[in-house]
Amino acid sequence: MGSVCLRARGRPEGATLLYAWGSHPAEDGGTAGPDRALEEPIPPSDRDGCAAPTRVERVLRTRRASGLSLTSKGDVMTGDSNGRDQSDAAQPSTDAETPLPPHGTLSSYYDADPERSAYVYDLFNRTAHHYDTIERIFGNGGLLYRRYSLRINGLRPGMKVLDVAIGTANVAMGAVKEVGPTGRVFGVDPNRGMLGQARQKVDIPLTQGVAQELPFASNTFDFVTMGIALRHVSDLKAAFSEYHRVLKPGGRVWILEGHVAKSRIGYALTRFFWGKLIPWLTLVFTRDRHAKLLMDYYLDTVDQCVAPEEIVEVMRNVGFEHARMRVTMPGAFCEYKGSKSEA
Ligand SMILES: C[S@@+](CC[C@H](N)C(=O)[O-])C[C@H]1O[C@@H](n2cnc3c(N)ncnc32)[C@H](O)[C@@H]1O
Repeated sequence: MGSVCLRARGRPEGATLLYAWGSHPAEDGGTAGPDRALEEPIPPSDRDGCAAPTRVERVLRTRRASGLSLTSKGDVMTGDSNGRDQSDAAQPSTDAETPLPPHGTLSSYYDADPERSAYVYDLFNRTAHHYDTIERIFGNGGLLYRRYSLRINGLRPGMKVLDVAIGTANVAMGAVKEVGPTGRVFGVDPNRGMLGQARQKVDIPLTQGVAQELPFASNTFDFVTMGIALRHVSDLKAAFSEYHRVLKPGGRVWILEGHVAKSRIGYALTRFFWGKLIPWLTLVFTRDRHAKLLMDYYLDTVDQCVAPEEIVEVMRNVGFEHARMRVTMPGAFCEYKGSKSEA
């Protein structure tokens, strides 16, 4: 298994990486062409034994030193009647060229938006080995849900699938079963820790890369999937443009996301469940504050995400047909779907 740990040329974000892990996408899933040359070393935060405290560590230390509870988000959650901070929320973008981040700056986790990708990278790298423990808190019901949803949304034997943000392969495992021996599933994720976990669970080609710049050829896949990760991309428009580009004509995109109920009582219940109970259970089962922080961050990013209507609008603008969002489990899951025109 070849593994060269390098940063892509000329990218602004420290955590934007392309990394050949296992089979190279050029084998039959597309191509990482010469313009995607790899040359710089990965950032220090990714190296084993790195001594400097990262932003994730500093957040935990600051909260402990200031006596803040780890779930305290005073600087984030002050705002409208639901406690949402509107000043920090991502503003609707009217300019086609302006990147559209999925949420505004979450200042209790990182200082400014350019830090976000590196922060997310560090957080997932530290918690990759706990991610499936968190899934087990839910009795692995989320895994069954993912597979079932892929099936009812048209994933069929023989199809070629790209699972973006593969993480620990919880979507990809279901996809592998659904496409069967005649199909193929490819995984892509920027995070080495997560790719390492995925490698232990599925024998499929894994590639290091980000949704906004997929290292695959155009018109390659029948299905593009993404589980619980849309909030982590740096630009929704770039990510959806890439999904559209790599899909074959007639291909489909399926995106699973977290959901926060809108009604006052639903919102309060969602925040109690995902903001208190689950982070606490995560701490109990993992005994790792980073894992708890991951769950805190999960809820805050879902809560602060741009409106579903805006995401659907982006999907339509990049060319998806039948673009829509459906709340499948209020307070837990919603799904974005669309298809590329046959023509
Ligand atoms: C919550 S995990 C989801 C894993 C898996 N898809 C699932 O359903 O369980 C989020 C994943 O998104 C990845 N990620 C973060 N930023 C990304 C980006 N810009 N493009 C693609 N994946 C990204 C993280 O490395 C992490 O593995």
